[in-house]
Amino acid sequence: MTKIAILGFGTVGSGVYEVLKMNKESIAKKLGKEIEVKYILDIRDFSDHPEAYLFTQDFNTILEDKEVEIVAEVIGGIHPAYNFTKAALLAGKHVVTSNKELVATMGTKLLKIAKDNNVNYMFEASVGGGIPIIAPLRGCLTGNEITRISGILNGTTNYILTKMFKDGESFEDALKAAQDLGYAERDPSSDILGRDAARKISILMSLVTGIQTDVDKIKTEGITSIDSCDVEVAGKMGCVIKLIARGYEKDGKVFASVSPSMLQKDHPLSNIQDVYNGIMVYGNAVDNVMFYGRGAGTLPTASAVVGDMIEIAKDPINQGIFWHEASEDAFIPFSEINDQYFVRIEKADKEKAALVFGELDFIDCQKSNDSYFISPEMSNGEFNSKIVSIPIIKKIRIEQE
Ligand code: HSE
Repeated sequence: MTKIAILGFGTVGSGVYEVLKMNKESIAKKLGKEIEVKYILDIRDFSDHPEAYLFTQDFNTILEDKEVEIVAEVIGGIHPAYNFTKAALLAGKHVVTSNKELVATMGTKLLKIAKDNNVNYMFEASVGGGIPIIAPLRGCLTGNEITRISGILNGTTNYILTKMFKDGESFEDALKAAQDLGYAERDPSSDILGRDAARKISILMSLVTGIQTDVDKIKTEGITSIDSCDVEVAGKMGCVIKLIARGYEKDGKVFASVSPSMLQKDHPLSNIQDVYNGIMVYGNAVDNVMFYGRGAGTLPTASAVVGDMIEIAKDPINQGIFWHEASEDAFIPFSEINDQYFVRIEKADKEKAALVFGELDFIDCQKSNDSYFISPEMSNGEFNSKIVSIPIIKKIRIEQE
C-alpha cells in the first residue's frame, strides 16, 4: 500500500481523488499494491463530503505523518505551494504536481532539493493536461538532440479560437464557456494573455536543453487582439489562427516565444480543436513526432498526476530530472529569429507598405477599412526596422511547418 496526500481539492485535486477511486482495482492490479488517499488538504469546509475524515486544514499533519510517501501538490500558484513542496521534499516525500507556474519559476531549486533528498519531483500534468509529453521527452526521446518544439499548449485559448473560427462566437462568450467547463485558470488572464502557454514552453525547453528557460525571457503575446476581421481574412486565405508556443535550440542557445499564429489548413496543428492540445517535437534522429490530447480539464489532468504517482510507487529512486540556471548569453535575441507575418494595415496605407516591402498581394476585410498582406520572410530585426514608416494595426506570425 502506498499512502498519498492531495494538497488542494479544486479542479485537479478532486479529479485525482476521483481517478484513484474509479480505477482503484485496475491500478492495484497493475502496480501490485493499492494507492490510498490518507489526507486531502484544503482550507475550505468539506464536512459534507462522504469521506470528510480525509480532509485537513493543517499541512503539518501531512508533513509529520511518515506513512505518507507521495504528495500531490495541485493547489496551483507559488504560495503556499512552494513552501509545501519544499517542506515535503526535505521530509523525504515525493511530490507530483500539475502546477506549471511553480515548475516554470522554481523548478530548478525544487528539482535540486528532490535530487539531494533522493526523492522525486514530477510534473507530467504541468504541460498538455492529460497528454504524455514530459515522460517521452525524458525517456524514449533522450537519444535525440531536440532542436524544435512547437505546439498548442493552452486549452482555453484553443477552445476560444475554435469557437470564433467555427461558430462565429464572440471572444467573450467563448471565454465564459471555457471557464464554465473548468478549462481556464482561476485568473483567466494567464490563459488569454499567453502566460500559461509561456510557462509550459518554459518547462519543455528547460527539460530538453537543460537550461532554465525563464518565463520572462519568453516573448509572449496572447489572443485578446484577435477579432472578427482577422478571422474573416485568415479564413479567406484558407488559414486558421492558433496560439502557438515555440522553442528552438541552436548552438547551445535557446529561443522561445508564444504568439497568435496563422496556420495553413494542411498544417498538422491546424486541426487541433476545442480544448485539445497538440505538440510537435523535432529530434535529429526521430524527425517530427506529434502528441495530441485533452490539454485541460479535471480528469485528463488528474490522469497525468496519477500516472506520476504510479511511476514513483513502482520505482521510488530519483529519476535524475534537472536543469541549470541560464547564463547571461543563453538566449537567442528575438531580432535574430526569422519570421513571416500576416500584417494588417488601413486600406489607405497600401502604397506605403508596397514601397517598403515591394510587390504585395492585399486582401481586404469586408467588415472594416482594413487590409492584410503577407510579409516576406526576414529577421525580426529587419522587419521591425522596415515597419517604422508603416502605421501597422497588427501583425500575426505565420507558423511554418
Ligand atoms: N488553463 C489551462 C489551459 C489549464 O487552458 O490549458 C491546463 O493547464
